[in-house]
Amino acid sequence: MSGRKTVLVTGGTGYIGSHTVVELYENGYDCILVDNLHNSSSQLVANLETLVGEPIKFYQTDLCDKKGLEQVFRENRIDSVIHFASLKAVGESAKVPLRYYRKNILAALNLLELMEQYEVKILVFASSATVYGDATKQPGMIPIPETCPLGPTNPYGSTKVIIEKLLHDLHISDEKLWKFAILRYFNPIGAHPSGLIGEDPSGVPNNLVPYMAQVASGKIEKLRIFGNDYDTRDGTAIRDYVHVVDLAKGHVAALRYLEKKDDENEGICREWNLGSGTGSTVLEVYNAFCKAYGKEIPYEIVGRRDGDVINLTAKIDRAVKELNWKPQLDVADACESLCR
Ligand code: UD1
Repeated sequence: MSGRKTVLVTGGTGYIGSHTVVELYENGYDCILVDNLHNSSSQLVANLETLVGEPIKFYQTDLCDKKGLEQVFRENRIDSVIHFASLKAVGESAKVPLRYYRKNILAALNLLELMEQYEVKILVFASSATVYGDATKQPGMIPIPETCPLGPTNPYGSTKVIIEKLLHDLHISDEKLWKFAILRYFNPIGAHPSGLIGEDPSGVPNNLVPYMAQVASGKIEKLRIFGNDYDTRDGTAIRDYVHVVDLAKGHVAALRYLEKKDDENEGICREWNLGSGTGSTVLEVYNAFCKAYGKEIPYEIVGRRDGDVINLTAKIDRAVKELNWKPQLDVADACESLCR
């Protein structure tokens, strides 16, 4: 165990968190997981242990419980933190904004205060492309660069913007001290090839790919495609789907980048888009899914969904150049891993 760096992963049993934990172990890190299991189960920890081949330290703790979280810092020597834990349902956030502001922001405050107190200075923060809002309203912003003005259109997105701002303010307050990477994800899809971890939302999923998976398994009758009257190659909306395993590797790349800054005694707070850099229409994803599944699943075209926009594709040059990261997998790979 000695010599390995220890990463505290909040939300470590979640969809992106669990895939990142696997990549961290593969790259020689040790992890401590903190999760309140609000949207996941302790079975995930067991599956992760099977995958990485060793026991993983896990705390069932809510980040809003500062005393509980402090115990984690007191009992362990932590080198860096990756912060995923967050409420993340866009629609729900519009219905219960107070809960979203309280939980997401308090969690970040508690974490950062404890990091300061215990002198842990390296943090990778899970943000979202939702911070850009409707980038199609701004001329020349598709594909979306990190410099695109922010304009979240829902409370969930606003909490991400506030935490990003907090990180910048903290960095400015002591320019040499903190090393912050803000990762803005586009549409993560797919699963680890082992089939042991993956996206398992409780209830009816909102997102396209988990929804198709439930149609395939017979839980839902058919897919509804929200609009085929967009000005795109087949009329359906374009998104940037990035394989979750590629996304997970992006966290290791960001962590390495921050560690290098730390070695050079430099501070930083910077954002990187993590997407595939390629846009796919809903029908293209549908076709890729049916191909991987081996037969066509039923669908119908319905009206546009409220709040949807025509095209959200990432410009990923900054991550490719600075983090030395490049997505290796595509939508077809993601559908295949998911069907498995
Ligand atoms: C949503 C979130 C975003 C989050 C992302 C991935 C919003 C405004 N944004 O993005 O913050 O990062 O999920 O978790 O909600 N579609 C259908 N039928 C369906 C479901 C979706 O046609 O049953 C279409 C949508 O209209 C859209 C595309 O598929 O064009 C992707 O939708 P979805 O998976 O929900 O992701 P986003 O809305 O892009």
